[in-house]
Amino acid sequence: MKSIIVSVVAAAGLMVAGSVLAADMPEVAKKNGCTACHAIDKKVVGPAFMDVSKKYKGDAGAVAHLTTKVSKGGSGVWGTMPMPASPKLSEADNKELVNFVLGLAK
Ligand code: HEC
Repeated sequence: MKSIIVSVVAAAGLMVAGSVLAADMPEVAKKNGCTACHAIDKKVVGPAFMDVSKKYKGDAGAVAHLTTKVSKGGSGVWGTMPMPASPKLSEADNKELVNFVLGLAK
């Protein structure tokens, strides 16, 4: 009996953790306005962060490419819609965002 209760509680905990992961952007993404165009699991104006993560999985140059892209903007990888430059984004926030995105598909 006790083990049933424990597994029900564990399953409920997993479901909560799963939905938070699917829906929640980190504070650093909200603060820098990324959430206006990006979501984790669906395309908004820009690609879903999960799709970006899958695309660059195992790519050793991904961090360099994406930090430059996020600060300078650009287009042509996901379509013709350009991402605007983020000149006010700090280097630390940029790295944190790119590492967050790349970590999603692991
Ligand atoms: C005005 C809308 C907009 C905002 C704001 C925005 N993006 Fe984007 N983002 C896009 C679009 C559109 C693309 C697709 C560009 C392309 O096809 O090359 C993109 C692409 C990306 C990519 C993939 C780049 C690649 O070359 O594969 C990453 C990573 C990314 N955005 C992160 C961010 C982060 C982090 C922020 C916040 C600092 C942000 N974006 C803010 C629209 C936006």
